[in-house]
Amino acid sequence: MTEMMNAVRLHRFGGPDVLRHEEAPRPVPAPGEVLVRVHAVGLNPPDWYLRDGYRALPPEWQPRAAFPLIPGWDISGVVAATPDQVHEFRPGDEVFALVRFPETVMQGGGACAEYVSVPAGQLAAKPAGLSHAEAAGAPMSLLTAWQFLIETGHDAPNPLQSFPHAPVPLEGRTVVVNGAGGGVGHLAVQLALRAGAEVIAIASARHEAALRDLGAHRFIDYTREDPAAALRGVDLVLDTVGGAGSSRFLGVLRRGGALFPVFPMGFAGHAEAEELGITVSTTQVRSDGAQLSRAAELLADGRLRVLIDSTYPLAEAARAHARAERGGIGGKIVLTVVQ
Ligand SMILES: NC(=O)c1ccc[n+]([C@@H]2O[C@H](COP(=O)([O-])OP(=O)(O)OC[C@H]3O[C@@H](n4cnc5c(N)ncnc54)[C@H](OP(=O)(O)O)[C@@H]3O)[C@@H](O)[C@H]2O)c1
Repeated sequence: MTEMMNAVRLHRFGGPDVLRHEEAPRPVPAPGEVLVRVHAVGLNPPDWYLRDGYRALPPEWQPRAAFPLIPGWDISGVVAATPDQVHEFRPGDEVFALVRFPETVMQGGGACAEYVSVPAGQLAAKPAGLSHAEAAGAPMSLLTAWQFLIETGHDAPNPLQSFPHAPVPLEGRTVVVNGAGGGVGHLAVQLALRAGAEVIAIASARHEAALRDLGAHRFIDYTREDPAAALRGVDLVLDTVGGAGSSRFLGVLRRGGALFPVFPMGFAGHAEAEELGITVSTTQVRSDGAQLSRAAELLADGRLRVLIDSTYPLAEAARAHARAERGGIGGKIVLTVVQ
């Protein structure tokens, strides 16, 4: 008999109201996978993009989804079963993960549910001092910041450019993080600080106190001051907002500096960057349990903190997506599955 669970599923693409909290079959782990009882789910921009059918992409890139599908990629929870006992995880272990990204980017990682089956190599032990909500907020944002700034960690083809992404030295350098209040941004600020960079955070004023508290050396409220006019000679800009607007940062970089657009669609400044002697590079985040374990050491002793924008019960995922649509996210939006 099929065992059932509660999950959030999509039966069609659309606005937040297409998210349905209902019963679904519990996943059965394949060899090499671990069944996790999910305690919290972290939400990320691909959650809204997928719910909406990736409408911003050209039609030929849009998903042909097999409905119903379970969205979500970031989880924190407790190991429920390790069917083939191949791995270092045991039932009862607290774990967190970015589940099957990017291979399920067009069909959902299955995280918005009471149970998810996760390839063992994508799991990391959850730091004991972190709540499940904080841990669930970390994986995609933290691995993105890590793979851009610290170590890319894989040699899979980069779907966003013809050459592999490579981080640049941070120690003693001036690093600008645009979109610093968001999921990727607030973790990137902290990674750059820990690596010895002078960090300039750009965000709206509502995030200033939190970013200064995390240690940002300088804060620019982009709603009051144009960062492109205020800055000169910096070594690296990590632009988590991205899009066509990234090219305005070319003017703030020194010759030999680098611009990393985290959302590179629409960027059209390659020729100008070449003229100015600036490297432009991007990549796509990938699940990686070993890397998440290394980053977890910084979470465990408080050198990295995950800030929570808001939490909602799994059954109220539609409200969480409506919150995301209002923008101005500070840290992470998280769904709680076990109270
Ligand atoms: N390449 C990859 O593999 C990868 C991985 C993860 C995410 N991403 C992409 O990276 C982007 C950021 O992701 P995220 O998870 O950090 O999103 P997020 O949590 O929604 O954060 C976005 C932040 O940007 C700020 N912002 C909006 N407009 C801004 C502007 N004009 N200037 C400065 N800040 C602005 C927002 O707050 P305020 O406006 O209040 O400051 C918010 O804090 C998304 O487009 C996502 O798709 C790419």
